[in-house]
Amino acid sequence: MRMTWFAGVFTLALPALRGPRMMQRLRSYAMNKPARGSLLGIEHLEEKEIRGLLKLARRMNLLKVRPLLRNKRIVLLFYEASTRTRSSFEIAAKSLGAITTLVQSSGSSIEKGESLLDTGATLRAVGADAIVIRHPCAGAPHLLAKHLDIPVINAGDGMHEHPSQALLDAFTILKHKKSFKGLQVAIIGDIYHSRVARSACHLLSKFGVKVTLCGPPEFVPEVAATLVPGLRVSRHPEEALRGADVIMLLRLQKERLAGQKIRLQDYVAHYQLTPSRLKLARRDAIVMHPGPIIRGLELTTEVADGPQSVILDEVHNGVPTRMAILARALGKAK
Ligand code: NCD
Repeated sequence: MRMTWFAGVFTLALPALRGPRMMQRLRSYAMNKPARGSLLGIEHLEEKEIRGLLKLARRMNLLKVRPLLRNKRIVLLFYEASTRTRSSFEIAAKSLGAITTLVQSSGSSIEKGESLLDTGATLRAVGADAIVIRHPCAGAPHLLAKHLDIPVINAGDGMHEHPSQALLDAFTILKHKKSFKGLQVAIIGDIYHSRVARSACHLLSKFGVKVTLCGPPEFVPEVAATLVPGLRVSRHPEEALRGADVIMLLRLQKERLAGQKIRLQDYVAHYQLTPSRLKLARRDAIVMHPGPIIRGLELTTEVADGPQSVILDEVHNGVPTRMAILARALGKAK
């Protein structure tokens, strides 16, 4: 069952491969391992590596950063909309002295039908030292990484993973809670379509954090509990919030809801984080959200701007975290 749910997500990568020639290349390259320093997901990252990245991110935070990546060329290849992830990867790269170039699907040869692998080869040929990629298909960064000899960093692939978000969220949690020990986390919202939730579950479970996933069955199918050991599913925010140290809210991913009939008024009535629901969590609970937030839907303005909200702090922490990811990618993580 667990495999089926995961495989369903992963096969979304297939539309990215166009034509028989691409299938041939896929076979011939299938054995290639991603270049050292690639960050494709949290699932296969060891606890030790995660701790190392978080430690490095804390050092990056000290502002006195040396231009570790001077003259390195980092390409930001974005096939999907992004504000936080894109700008913080760019600022992180530039803060380390790297040169960045943004390639988006609109306005590039991708619009003309160029395949992912041909775009990757082109960017390598112009001298890219690393590629940060966001793509609507799960598995796209993995595919690219198998074909290139430079590090590939996953900045979000379809409904699969968003490793840099999980790392910056871990960084934020540890800033406010000091340790993962004994923590209770409630993740509320559209978990099924969320790469943020998937990466967060992988990371938190590696540190023994108790996670409750909360939402209606369309957003939290029972099978979601099998993603990692120890996950709980609840349909009632009141239950999920009781005793929670960390509340992670997620946006309803309208762009991935094709064919589903969700009544927004019902969602708001049952699941919106309001000041009175927030009172059920621990008094020092923090409210997180990867953004973009939709005020009046998954949370109220009072909660978004309230004293327990660390939503903008997450965005802020994205820069040192991504500096650490880029430094590790280019072998400068000393
Ligand atoms: C998320 C994403 O794009 O996966 N945002 C982000 O990267 N901070 C979440 C979302 O789009 O809802």
